[in-house]
Amino acid sequence: MAKVAVLGFGVVGSGVVEVLETNAQSIAQKVGEPVSLKYILDLRDFPESPYRDKIVHDFDIILNDPEVDVVCEVIGGVEPAYTFTKKALLAGKSVVTSNKELVAKHGAEFLKLAKEKDLNYLFEASVGGGIPIIHPLHQCLAGNEIQSVIGILNGTTNYILTQMFQNGVPFDQALAEAQERGYAERNPSADIDGIDACRKIAILGSLIYGRQLPTDEIPTEGISKLTLDDVAAAESAGYVIKLLGVYRKLHKQVYCRVSPCLISKNHPLSHVDDVFNGILVNGNAIDDVMFYGRGAGKLPTASAVVADIIDCVKHRNVNRSVIWEDGEAG
Ligand code: HSE
Repeated sequence: MAKVAVLGFGVVGSGVVEVLETNAQSIAQKVGEPVSLKYILDLRDFPESPYRDKIVHDFDIILNDPEVDVVCEVIGGVEPAYTFTKKALLAGKSVVTSNKELVAKHGAEFLKLAKEKDLNYLFEASVGGGIPIIHPLHQCLAGNEIQSVIGILNGTTNYILTQMFQNGVPFDQALAEAQERGYAERNPSADIDGIDACRKIAILGSLIYGRQLPTDEIPTEGISKLTLDDVAAAESAGYVIKLLGVYRKLHKQVYCRVSPCLISKNHPLSHVDDVFNGILVNGNAIDDVMFYGRGAGKLPTASAVVADIIDCVKHRNVNRSVIWEDGEAG
């Protein structure tokens, strides 16, 4: 039996626990053994939760338990997630995460460490919520030179823009709704200022290019200055506005940016609305391929995290992670 520890019992963590329980039977069938939750690490107690007996407050309990195969880090942010991830890998435990900030900043280090230890560091949920995009880029599309990625990568801003365009809802009200639905980051500036989308395009770019692309070198503009007047002007000219993360490789030079863009209503990304994300990838063999699905939210994100847990358990002691190196892009 495989044992999992979940770090962080927030929106995503509780989703992971729910999916592991609800789909326990089919997961066991796919893996060939039951995958069971052993611990939930959180600062808080959850006296009303059916999982209250799994709650621990001390990470060392997890670290020192040889039964724990996979650590699922869904705390978010850099610390203590960085320290816990590093300790878990050094202790011989694979780590899966939805933490885009950490992957965008320290991915190269953890991928190297996982490879050295024949473990895995998997992060499908860090980009596109429930949409499979990391594995497809790394595996199904591996035969291609990826020439560009254009993505609606942030569910919160896409929800806000959709509300502004389709229902004339002012920016602040739409943001409050996105927060209520559990889409937004703890500090919503990460969403509305484009920082979250920047981390996500940096992760995709690093994966494609093979080197960590520093987020502070990616020009980034959010949507907080957009008004209903901008919306009306775009609309009357036959456009919608979407916050796009763009990666392009031209003559060995890599170019990334995040900004609100006018998109013609004929473009496939113009129909990606609400919390949905859409990622249009162009490869030199496949041409265009588009990925679409829920980019945020409890269960969609948990769907991707649990898939990575399954992958880790099915491939114990086999490193299946992508590798990218620290260093400057060309
Ligand atoms: N705040 C993020 C979003 C959550 O809205 O897309 C998923 O990464």
